[in-house]
Amino acid sequence: PVIASIGYTPEDVAKLGPLVERAGVDGIEFSTHYVGFDPKPVAEVAKTLRESVEIPIFAKLSPHLPDIVPFAKAVEPYVDGIVAINTYGPTLHIDVETGKPLLGGRYGYGWLSGPALKPIAVRCVAEISKAVRVPVIGVGGILCGRDAVEHIMAGAYAVQICTGAILEGPGIYGRVAKEIEEFLREHGYDSLEDIRGMALKWLPEKPLRTVALAPEVDVERCTGCGICERACVYHAIEMVELADSRRKVAKTVVEKCYGCGLCVSICPTRARYFPEG
Ligand SMILES: Cc1cc2nc3c(=O)[nH]c(=O)nc-3n(C[C@H](O)[C@H](O)[C@H](O)COP(=O)(O)O)c2cc1C
Ligand code: SF4
Ligand code: SF4
Repeated sequence: PVIASIGYTPEDVAKLGPLVERAGVDGIEFSTHYVGFDPKPVAEVAKTLRESVEIPIFAKLSPHLPDIVPFAKAVEPYVDGIVAINTYGPTLHIDVETGKPLLGGRYGYGWLSGPALKPIAVRCVAEISKAVRVPVIGVGGILCGRDAVEHIMAGAYAVQICTGAILEGPGIYGRVAKEIEEFLREHGYDSLEDIRGMALKWLPEKPLRTVALAPEVDVERCTGCGICERACVYHAIEMVELADSRRKVAKTVVEKCYGCGLCVSICPTRARYFPEG
């Protein structure tokens, strides 16, 4: 199928939508490039395009930090799917040789895409997937099959690649599709349905925690490498000897721990975990 991508205002999409529909495309993605906090302008574009064409339409959302869900819910009644996410910005990159902004935008600013965008994109895909019933299409930082799998595990029904294709050329699409197939085969999955949204069960709705919780250590998994001890800026980790084997393992000093989670993130053997799961 051919999907046309258009924008940005209600007037624009009312004019462009019917034109690309008559040209024979199978669907239309629209973006607004709106980065404010009010979902209404984005919903207005969705509604206008819905009333202007018959073919499926998809809303492409910007990251809308900190909460993209109200935007997804606002467009959901009008669209057949949601594409997440557009670039994040504005951002600034300075050439330290000249002291000048390096990015090509008119004011020296640019918009972030590619690998640095992926964690934001995957988070948005997961949160939208939990909140709406229409399919979500993931985009942001996909350069290989495993990146695409990450989006799919966050709930994506399909993925897009932009920066990777600019850098590598159109061959990236076939390569990534092949790598996704290889991933499924190597991990014993029969189809994408086996992995779609599989991460969502680990992201339950819960109130933001405001008290420090100290991570625990699975001593069977701990190799005693000491990485967490060196990383903890609060000196809340000590290496202690296990009584039976004299093997050294990490131990959290609960009174000093701020619950920042750094040690959980960097432990190479996943030996550290928060007791809440
Ligand atoms: C050079 C460039 C131009 C882009 N132009 C558009 C655009 O016109 N409309 C749009 O919705 N997104 C546009 N994007 C955003 C991409 O479609 C995509 O959402 C974003 O770059 C994240 O995906 P990626 O990491 O695979 O690039 C553009 C991105 C780049 C890098
Ligand atoms: S980083 Fe992990 S494996 Fe290494 S000492 Fe800490 S808990 Fe043990
Ligand atoms: S959660 Fe943060 S403060 Fe607590 S032990 Fe780990 S790194 Fe240190």
